[in-house]
Amino acid sequence: MAHLWSGRFAGDPDAELFAFGSSFRFDKRLFEDDVRGSLAWAQGLARAGVLSPADAAAIDGGLRAILDRGGADPAFVSETHGDEDVHAFVERELVALVGDAGRRLHTGRSRNEQVAVDLRLYLKRRLPAIERAIAGLVRALVDLAGRAGGALMPSYTHLRRAQPVLVAHFLLSHCAALRRDAGRLAAVRDEIDELPLGSGAIAGTAYGIDVRALADALGFARVARNSIDVSGDRDFVASFLHAASLGMVHLSRIAEDFILFTSEEFGFFELDDRAATGSSLMPQKKNPDPLELVRGKSGRVIGHLTGWLVSMKGLAAGYNKDLQEDKEALFDAEDTWIACLHATASVVGGLTPNQATTTRAASGLLLATDVADYLVARGLPFRDAHEIVGALVRRLVDERRTFEDLSLEEWRQHSPLFGEDVRQAVTALASVEKKQTPQSTHPKAVAAALAETEEWLTAVANEP
Ligand code: ARG
Repeated sequence: MAHLWSGRFAGDPDAELFAFGSSFRFDKRLFEDDVRGSLAWAQGLARAGVLSPADAAAIDGGLRAILDRGGADPAFVSETHGDEDVHAFVERELVALVGDAGRRLHTGRSRNEQVAVDLRLYLKRRLPAIERAIAGLVRALVDLAGRAGGALMPSYTHLRRAQPVLVAHFLLSHCAALRRDAGRLAAVRDEIDELPLGSGAIAGTAYGIDVRALADALGFARVARNSIDVSGDRDFVASFLHAASLGMVHLSRIAEDFILFTSEEFGFFELDDRAATGSSLMPQKKNPDPLELVRGKSGRVIGHLTGWLVSMKGLAAGYNKDLQEDKEALFDAEDTWIACLHATASVVGGLTPNQATTTRAASGLLLATDVADYLVARGLPFRDAHEIVGALVRRLVDERRTFEDLSLEEWRQHSPLFGEDVRQAVTALASVEKKQTPQSTHPKAVAAALAETEEWLTAVANEP
């Protein structure tokens, strides 16, 4: 079989080494993007007078036929042809369809810039699906917050009970992180919004291509700054992998929280049967496998980022074949991220809050800060209040009691500032209702945050 570069060589490449270097197996995912890039390039050549109108029309018709065929029949874009990569595949098919005109398409162009443009076009069309999957998980968390209503639960620092919060407030904390992930995708979208074409293999192209018009045709905001940089730049792959890694870190933390909170020890949420698996040995087991897998898969996406940074770091300026390694990392990170977003949304969609358990867990010694605030409201410096309540807590721990068990007399043994009203002041509900800032767990602040999240979800749903 003739390759895109066969003329330089006396014989065929070693079959095994050729297969080793071939990327068609995975870069066929870029099929649609490669054809679109070539359609624009052919128009650019025609406008520059490099292609005759007849050749340009033949190429255009051929590429559109190839695109249609690929869309209608996925088996068409398959491994069987022995092509080195998707670029070789499309060019060979084009020549087979339109003959010599097809052999003029690659004028002034290199696969180095072609793969750079393809990968950018690919990401541009794939990023919205990831954003929608993020929104799908936010939707599931917001719906769960709706099912939890005004239920209270403990919040934790150091995984020790800290202060009462609304269950909805806890769920919205994960929404906040997920929305940062969506923001990071927008930053990647901006980084890739740059046309590589016109860079040639490394030094630019010797034909009068109107790259600004080409950028407009392909929907890029800017034209690349430097042809050498274009040839070897895969920073945007690292940026995407970083966004995916942090996204997976967030999913892993969500998974960890629900693995804990659905355990017998916490019992804050009940896992739906369809989101759990049993044990082959222990009949009582209801395991949160999907959540554990999400947590586990975060490691491999982080591995892709680390691996890719290491692959790039030693490269001399310009294209190096090492760069071909970007695609499997990117595609797997994308697939894994989306699959984990869907799986997590599905599990969260089946969770039932156990209000009695969370509310019970939200009372007791975690109201200590509220006791201190009670004294502060009566004029005591916070440090003194902290010390008094610390001693009170120590006593209650020793006596295995909590604030609710104290008589007024006992309260007053610790400070004369305590009055009858301390009982109403020191409850989980009073605690959340005392919070005043917009990011707090005050029920009104949480309601506003839920409404604002709904607005964000509507905005994402209405994006083109
Ligand atoms: N398959 C190659 C890649 O993914 C395309 C670019 C090939 N360029 C080259 N000079 N061999 O990087």
